[in-house]
Amino acid sequence: MLRSIYIETYGCQMNFADTEIVNGILRKEGYEIAADIDGADAVFLNTCAIRDNAEQRIYGRLSNLSHLKKRNPHLVFGVLGCMAERLRANLLEQNSDVDIVCGPDEYRKLPALIDQAFEGEKGIRTQLSRVETYDDIVPLRTDGISAWVAVMRGCDKFCTFCVVPFTRGRERSRPMHGIVREVAGLLDRGFREVTLLGQNVNSYHDADADFADLLVAVAALDPQLRVRFTTSHPQDMSDRLIAAIAEHDNICKYIHLPFQSGSDRILALMNRTYSREHYLGLVKKIRAAVPDVALSTDVIAGFPTETEEDHQQTLSLMEEVRYDGAFMFKYSPREKTRAWNMGDDIPDEVKGRRLEEIIDLQRRISYEINRTIVGKRQRILLEGPSKRSDVEWMGRTDTNKTVIVPRGDFIAGDLLDVHISSATSATLFGRPVGIPAVEAA
Ligand code: 5AD
Ligand code: SF4
Repeated sequence: MLRSIYIETYGCQMNFADTEIVNGILRKEGYEIAADIDGADAVFLNTCAIRDNAEQRIYGRLSNLSHLKKRNPHLVFGVLGCMAERLRANLLEQNSDVDIVCGPDEYRKLPALIDQAFEGEKGIRTQLSRVETYDDIVPLRTDGISAWVAVMRGCDKFCTFCVVPFTRGRERSRPMHGIVREVAGLLDRGFREVTLLGQNVNSYHDADADFADLLVAVAALDPQLRVRFTTSHPQDMSDRLIAAIAEHDNICKYIHLPFQSGSDRILALMNRTYSREHYLGLVKKIRAAVPDVALSTDVIAGFPTETEEDHQQTLSLMEEVRYDGAFMFKYSPREKTRAWNMGDDIPDEVKGRRLEEIIDLQRRISYEINRTIVGKRQRILLEGPSKRSDVEWMGRTDTNKTVIVPRGDFIAGDLLDVHISSATSATLFGRPVGIPAVEAA
């Protein structure tokens, strides 16, 4: 009997890429991948453990999925990903509906775990690996324009706030030829953009090749292919990488460069291994080499012992850099990390107020930057209908800004020159160059 499996994914892009790997493994073993949850024989949540609120959301989902199990007691229910790795057997003990717990390096064992679960046996696999990269697995992707390609797994940075080294294990890179072959296959299938993914892509290596070599090798496959990458660590961003971005038209002029805090004292407590001065010097160097580059970042409000002065340093760094966008978070203590032992002394209202100041500042800066693009011409890669309306389409600029355009005779994958007519802090609105603003009735 053909069993069907449905996976619901939470968290970062790495998790979405992992879901495609899991689906690739399961499909090869003869399972059907269900398009929606209704009627699936097994349901998995691929989970995130980065902050407590991510976990709370998944607990909520787990409990509201228990009605499915009441309706169909044979349904197999599993937890994958970072929460599986972090909580292990506790998940089975706390939640009687859960049959399978499987961590990020054990996905090859899933078919066996699923077969056992259909026989009524619960199973758990959470060993981390120093070598697993799933390089030989063909991820199961639906056709599209833009694909995510994991080039490495794990992280060796041990920032003191971060649970990832504990949930995803040690850093390891995929061989370069496997990645290049995968992207070549995506090109054949019509994909127009790839994002090379890793927790810290700047430390990618394969024999003598580093991340700059990989990026150039991927970009060389087709000058029409857009190449993106994330995430960069400010400590490891090499001059060769900056030069590669500057010299190749199809490597996007967009860098996600988390700074986390603008205070040297907090950066040291975070074990970020760079200073504010190093970070600002790096930004200057990047902008000198790649003048139109867009930068985005991650920042944490309310790390243990953070003072108002530290917080002001964060705001002033943001003013100085003027990021195009930012992901902004309240500090959330995670067990096993070094910061866990530093306490969590900043009251939630203070964290919340600081976060709001950070968000307000970023919104103003994003808006100011986007306003300067109004009246200009931008080239976008059309991705498909916009989320809000099917009479509008969305695409992205090289610098990763979302642009909404009226639906015309375009198809996803078209590169379109648009005239930007208005902007908010999050979105640009435009119309294709050469097409009148108001269409005849
Ligand atoms: N609390 C808040 N934010 C965190 N991040 C990672 N760990 C934590 C934590 N414990 C943020 C960092 C990182 C991003 C992926 O998530 O800013 O860059
Ligand atoms: Fe979540 Fe981080 Fe794990 Fe991604 S790596 S799934 S963001 S905890």
